[in-house]
Amino acid sequence: MPPLKHVAIIGANGTIGRALIIALHVHMPTAQIETFSRTPAVIKDTSNHLIDYQDESSIAAAANCAPEWDLVICATGVLHTEKISPEKSLHALSRDHFHALFDANTITPALIAKYFLTRLSKTGIFAALSAKVGSISDNQLGGWYAYRASKAALNMIIKNAAIEMKRTNPKAIVVALHPGTVDSPLSKPFQTHVPKDQLFTAEFSAQKLINVLMHLSSEHSGQCLAWDGHIIQP
Ligand SMILES: NC(=O)c1ccc[n+]([C@@H]2O[C@H](COP(=O)([O-])OP(=O)(O)OC[C@H]3O[C@@H](n4cnc5c(N)ncnc54)[C@H](OP(=O)(O)O)[C@@H]3O)[C@@H](O)[C@H]2O)c1
Repeated sequence: MPPLKHVAIIGANGTIGRALIIALHVHMPTAQIETFSRTPAVIKDTSNHLIDYQDESSIAAAANCAPEWDLVICATGVLHTEKISPEKSLHALSRDHFHALFDANTITPALIAKYFLTRLSKTGIFAALSAKVGSISDNQLGGWYAYRASKAALNMIIKNAAIEMKRTNPKAIVVALHPGTVDSPLSKPFQTHVPKDQLFTAEFSAQKLINVLMHLSSEHSGQCLAWDGHIIQP
């Protein structure tokens, strides 16, 4: 990977977003790292900008913060809220719940791609945090309807965007990333049955994800890769 000049981390106050910022400062000390979050960033030594994921003009303004981007990571996403818990059965499905999760997990990253991809450098990388549970072929357990479906849809957006970029910016790379199961508020209520060695710290996951990003080639564009580099089948 050539030295990176301009890096964007969107979702700078998320657990994995924060860990990525810290790790990128170490790995890429010369890069200008711009961070974006709904509220002022907890990590103070970066160039932080407020962003409203609900306002497309705010996303457009964020993309304009650099002349071009060498690396863009969208680290946003929602599994549960105070009002929403992942569905265990069809009985729990709700229109509002679907709207909220598709909005956060599919539409927001898609609109971020809309504006940031047009400013991706010739060897630039765009990565969105997805999840292994978005794989249809890997689904053994069922449940989590809206989260699974919204991440599967995100993976489709990534594939589509990669195809489009092949025509307009052929060396650029667009991927989805699965960070592993990471100790964060997002996973906290669901950690009981996760074996200890499979529950990662955000720092560990961020190191692994950066390693994956540093070893990407254009054949990876459009795919979903896990923290250890293996390809997650759609
Ligand atoms: N933790 C895991 O085990 C795990 C496993 C697989 C995949 N992932 C994925 O990794 C990503 C980050 O997860 P995390 O563990 O770091 O979660 P987290 O600590 O709960 O952080 C949530 C992130 O999502 C953003 N966010 C919150 N509400 C949002 C909304 N309504 N619309 C759009 N964005 C919203 C936040 O943005 P601000 O920074 O602007 O506040 C924050 O960056 C998510 O996409 C998640 O699906 C996580």
